[in-house]
Amino acid sequence: MPANPSPLTAPTAEDLRAWYRVQSAALAHDRPGEPVPSQAAVRAGLTTTGSRRRLVLWLLRGSGDEPVATAVLRLSEGTATAEDGKAAGGPAEIQMTVHPAHRRLGTGSRLLATVTEAATAAGCGSLAAEAVSGTPGEGFLATRDFVPVTRLTWQRLALDDIPGPIGKLPEVPHPGYRLTAWEGAVPDTLTGGFTDALRALPAPPAAAAGLDHGDTRWDPATVQETAELAARRGDRLLTVAALHEDDGAVAGYTTVLLPGDGARRAHQYDTAVVPAHRGHGLALWMKSEMLRRLPGVQPDLTEIHTGVPDDSRHLLAVNNALGFRPLRRTVRYRLRLRRR
Ligand SMILES: CC(C)(COP(=O)(O)OP(=O)(O)OC[C@H]1O[C@@H](n2cnc3c(N)ncnc32)[C@H](O)[C@@H]1OP(=O)(O)O)[C@@H](O)C(=O)NCCC(=O)NCCS
Repeated sequence: MPANPSPLTAPTAEDLRAWYRVQSAALAHDRPGEPVPSQAAVRAGLTTTGSRRRLVLWLLRGSGDEPVATAVLRLSEGTATAEDGKAAGGPAEIQMTVHPAHRRLGTGSRLLATVTEAATAAGCGSLAAEAVSGTPGEGFLATRDFVPVTRLTWQRLALDDIPGPIGKLPEVPHPGYRLTAWEGAVPDTLTGGFTDALRALPAPPAAAAGLDHGDTRWDPATVQETAELAARRGDRLLTVAALHEDDGAVAGYTTVLLPGDGARRAHQYDTAVVPAHRGHGLALWMKSEMLRRLPGVQPDLTEIHTGVPDDSRHLLAVNNALGFRPLRRTVRYRLRLRRR
């Protein structure tokens, strides 16, 4: 590996295939038994990005030109670029992967030095990274000054199991509330109510913010960007919301992303209930309704996947009641960067 590898500025089709070789080998090795994302999904994640994010990519090759490692630095809005010289200090995330056949040779360490240097030059105050518990990533980050900030349980619900758990749930009345659902961006008639609901939600723990998916609070711009990005990637974003019958206020919502590449795993995104409407079983009601709808919307789905921070005990209980079962645990780390 060169001492200071350069970022990929315009990835070619061959670069993207090489990238996928590293990713698919690493995922099959690090998450045995779990579905490996398609090449189309991995490519879309690199080439179709949100307006508030900028990705910097590195692809390392060995002496025989074989792909050895990849790294992504995700810079959020507010993070200046090195070229414009500002140091705005926005949050940044890294995802580094070394092909299993090339590990323990110092590649990860050298790549981390390169990415950290780029993040510092871009004015980032800190770097977030996530590793699966019990895998080399955990040992690697822990010996590299990263501090653990959040632990998450990733869960899976096999959709074949749905009639079981949902059928067994008691039909609890929810007087004063009704459910509504939509696909894509928030409908115009609910934009104001949805924004009010997001404002009324407590801020997420700083450590949980910025997760790609999982039960993390969103802001209106994130919701809008997520809907636009799903549409551009050919995915579908479904939302079920609970409305208060008296004033039509949005009391809570739950959102699921359905893959557009034929994959059979859907991803549960955000679920939240406004504090004034908690204690009425709305989270379980909304999620049950979502699960009832999914087979009709995309019949070939086989499972739904979600990540829940350990401090979201209520959501874990709701998911358990619906039949979600633990798949793996991850640790989210943060590294403070020195300002230039
Ligand atoms: C984590 C990862 C990037 C490390 O890549 P690598 O090229 O093997 O890393 P290095 O050779 O530079 O290892 C550096 C140090 O990390 C630690 N480390 C790496 N693998 C480890 C393992 N299996 N167990 C314990 N410590 C480990 C060790 O301290 C190691 O130094 P040593 O080999 O001198 O003991 C690689 O295992 C990987 O791609 N994992 C999957 C993705 C991931 O978890 N990424 C990290 C989060 S972004």
